[in-house]
Amino acid sequence: MDRDSLYRETFPIKGDDFERGGEVATRVKALLQQLGLPRDVIRRLSIANFEAEMNVVMYAREATLEVLVFPDLIRVQVVDRGPGIADIDWAMQEGHSTATEAMRARGFGAGLGLPNIQRNTDEFEVKSDAGVGTTLRYAVHTTPRPKEG
Ligand SMILES: Nc1ncnc2c1ncn2[C@@H]1O[C@H](COP(=O)(O)OP(=O)(O)O)[C@@H](O)[C@H]1O
Ligand SMILES: [Mg+2]
Repeated sequence: MDRDSLYRETFPIKGDDFERGGEVATRVKALLQQLGLPRDVIRRLSIANFEAEMNVVMYAREATLEVLVFPDLIRVQVVDRGPGIADIDWAMQEGHSTATEAMRARGFGAGLGLPNIQRNTDEFEVKSDAGVGTTLRYAVHTTPRPKEG
């Protein structure tokens, strides 16, 4: 189980809402800046949050993005209601996408979102339940850690 977080806040995301797509990532960025976190931590989390948010907009019905602040890391959980991801290994490969032509016309669908989230975070986990939804959990450490091993 997680230790108690110092602070947590939940943000709703609506599927198909391209108008507001990216707003949650922007609001979370402001929150992280208020907390006085290092620029690189904010940058990496903002990339991950934007990609996760846009995946909900494009592929799911709705979601909540929850930010949990711990003394030494920021954890984010994005729990959506939607189709789920049929083949996670496939979806995690760079360039793999089921984006429609309309999504590509908006500049999305390069198939780099999930790999980018993984690359920018210290912990990353994706779970999917077909017909129910997808849960992403990722975290970025806020204090330097000694290398393991
Ligand atoms: N929340 C989600 N619900 C359902 N499918 C998803 C979700 N997120 C990602 N996917 C699937 O994984 C694929 C790869 O996602 P991603 O790497 O972000 O690339 P892109 O968004 O450019 O397609 C998507 O095309 C989609 O098929
Ligand atoms: Mg994406």
